Amino acid sequence: MKNPTTPGTFRMRAVQSPVIPVVGQMVRERPGTISLGQGVVSYGPPPEAIDQLNSFLSAPSHHKYGAVEGIQPLIETIKAKLRSENSINLNAGSRVVVTAGGNMAFMNAVLAITDPGDEVILQLPYYFNHEMALVMASCRAVLVPTDENYQLRPEAVRRAITEKTRAVVTVSPNNPTGAVYKEESLREINEMCHAHDIHHISDEAYEYFTYGDAQHFSPASIPESNSHTISLYSLSKSYGFASWRIGYMVIPEHLFTSVNKIQDTILICPPVVSQFAALGALQAGAEYCRGKLQSLAEVRDIVLQELSRIKSLCTVPPSDGAFYFLLKIHASIEPMALVEQLIREHGVAVIPGTAFGMEDGCYLRVAYGALEKETVVEGVTRLVVGLKTILKG
Ligand SMILES: Cc1ncc(COP(=O)(O)O)c(C=O)c1O
Repeated sequence: MKNPTTPGTFRMRAVQSPVIPVVGQMVRERPGTISLGQGVVSYGPPPEAIDQLNSFLSAPSHHKYGAVEGIQPLIETIKAKLRSENSINLNAGSRVVVTAGGNMAFMNAVLAITDPGDEVILQLPYYFNHEMALVMASCRAVLVPTDENYQLRPEAVRRAITEKTRAVVTVSPNNPTGAVYKEESLREINEMCHAHDIHHISDEAYEYFTYGDAQHFSPASIPESNSHTISLYSLSKSYGFASWRIGYMVIPEHLFTSVNKIQDTILICPPVVSQFAALGALQAGAEYCRGKLQSLAEVRDIVLQELSRIKSLCTVPPSDGAFYFLLKIHASIEPMALVEQLIREHGVAVIPGTAFGMEDGCYLRVAYGALEKETVVEGVTRLVVGLKTILKG
């Protein structure tokens, strides 16, 4: 018989521990540290979101459980957004489900399309919660390395598909690299999934965060893609909504019953108060996020300029989206040890690449979304000085 004090099941022990809280603890132990760690934005929701709270409070029935897939006015607003901004045709057999954030949408998708032992292809580096969700579902995450610019390698993805593959996951704009995948590569992946009768899961949490000429592309806009494409969205970044926990997914009609069962069991319904706020946020629309992008782009320029001072110590592959850079450090040093030293001796925190599956070499993720301009200059200066001191010392 299993000892009840055994620390978790085999399945849960196989799941990696999230590194962000570990780095967070080190930051707390070294007051004054500037965090280039967490992937959050500096702003909160638009006033329209808060205004909706009065409507929520106006009817006692709003305190009861809502529909599993979300409240109707929000679903309708999301559909209008998907049609006009993402060019997704929802009349060809797709359903919209509101979730408690993009992470939950991913878990819903994984549970709906896999059995234990199945394989799902992730691009390396991956978003750690994707890998964790797959291990929790007793699936195997098959990792396909991206190229030196962190771009997709469709041919390598094709070679990784086996009898057991159930889906290919793409995240564009990407966490942790900031890469915005080329439309042609995303099309290739989507068509490949169609040909192999597997799903393409497209995580578009950073859809509005692109810079310069980079353009976001939604694979579900491809004609005939509805039956095998699952698109995931989040309000957390775009609308400064992280704690409200609202995201949504577009799924093929044939997955609706399964997703409904999963969400009914885990959540019953997305928090209705947050759905009201989300309705207000979407009424403010993409312009709200775009209005913030100008200053984020300026912050990004500062980070790039500072990092260009240490070209001999690290490579900064192109990043035209999200608010991340994934630096490749030109030294054989254990990444977590480097992170610890940067925090303790230089007062700046970043995330080691190992959290994103980069076990070969030393990588550091720099997140600049939460920083004001003044803080970013100080934070990146500390990083540059820290890297110079540690790596040359
Ligand atoms: C690629 C990606 N997807 C999903 C999420 C989670 O979003 P949510 O807060 O909506 O669960 C994140 C958060 O960092 C992310 O980077």
